[in-house]
Amino acid sequence: EASLTTLHLLATDPTAVTQAAELARDGQLVAVPTETVYGLAADANQPNAVKKIFAAKGRPADHPLIVHVADKSLVTQWAETLPDYFDALADAFWPGPLTIVAKKRAHVSDVVTGGHKTVGIRVPNHPAMLALLQQVQSGLAAPSANPYKKISPTTAEQVLFGLSGKIAAVLDGGSCEVGLESTIVDISSPTPRILRAGPITKADLEAVLNMEVEEPDVHTVAVPGNVKAHYQPSKRLTILSTQALTSRLQLGCAPNTGILYYSSEIESILSEHRDINELVDLKLGAEKTKYAQGLYYGLHQLDQSSATEILLEAPPRTPKWRDVNDRLMRAAAQ
Ligand code: TXA
Ligand code: MG
Repeated sequence: EASLTTLHLLATDPTAVTQAAELARDGQLVAVPTETVYGLAADANQPNAVKKIFAAKGRPADHPLIVHVADKSLVTQWAETLPDYFDALADAFWPGPLTIVAKKRAHVSDVVTGGHKTVGIRVPNHPAMLALLQQVQSGLAAPSANPYKKISPTTAEQVLFGLSGKIAAVLDGGSCEVGLESTIVDISSPTPRILRAGPITKADLEAVLNMEVEEPDVHTVAVPGNVKAHYQPSKRLTILSTQALTSRLQLGCAPNTGILYYSSEIESILSEHRDINELVDLKLGAEKTKYAQGLYYGLHQLDQSSATEILLEAPPRTPKWRDVNDRLMRAAAQ
């Protein structure tokens, strides 16, 4: 396939959103900023445009895409038979990092839904993306803007690193504020069920709905975010407890070991041992939302650095950290 010249459109430029909208209407692929991660968007009403997403990412055709819309009122263009509690969810969490899976309307293409009878929908919380959605007057089907199985991008530069030459443009809206993919909740059956852990937790959903939300211990649903090896750096990633990482650092690591950590314990060990270790280290926020915001960015940085392998300090395992641990487990899977 012929290589494209990928345009880098700065969202701060007044014409950028209009240019991106024209490209999308013309059936081209545009990477878009959201608050979670960058998406790779095509007009969800143009199956031939949506097909290009799978080709650019190398994504299997049966993996469904999320349709992004400008506001709640547009959901009924894509989904039907919504349960009563749909409004409560949309009002509490949109625009925001929640994807709702509901029964699809007949016209919604199998290319978008991967042949499923349901469709995933989200109103993202990013001003440039919302402006774009308003201009295209359609839904934008968009998975994360990374090659299949790789780490999702949280900056336009990372999008270009993975997909330059394969897409028409990237709309650069800066760094993603949340940094991890949305929570996915299936509301197509009577009891809501979490299909992918995300920034909005089971407890957050239950507090709004006043009803139980199912969350399987291990997400087994056959969807791409749930495959065992996913979100992967190209270098070997090993997750170590704070104690195990401390011992490794005290023993002395091989030169050019990448260290991704967050605790002050590791920080002080690193400063004591910096002379004997030639390390490529990067500190993440110790608080969950900060940590999540920086995680993919840090993994990308170390992946593209001189580091030969990456050691990551295991974060806490409380329910709040579930999405982080879910992604890390897949990122480190062999
Ligand atoms: O935060 C996000 O969700 C980002 C931004 C760009 O919105 N998008 C994202 O898309 O992470 P993707 O394709 O990388 O992951 C979407 C997940 C996949 O696991 C997919 O299988 C699931 O959503 N999904 C989409 N439609 C579905 C459906 N009808 N039934 C079950 N799962 C669905
Ligand atoms: Mg993805």
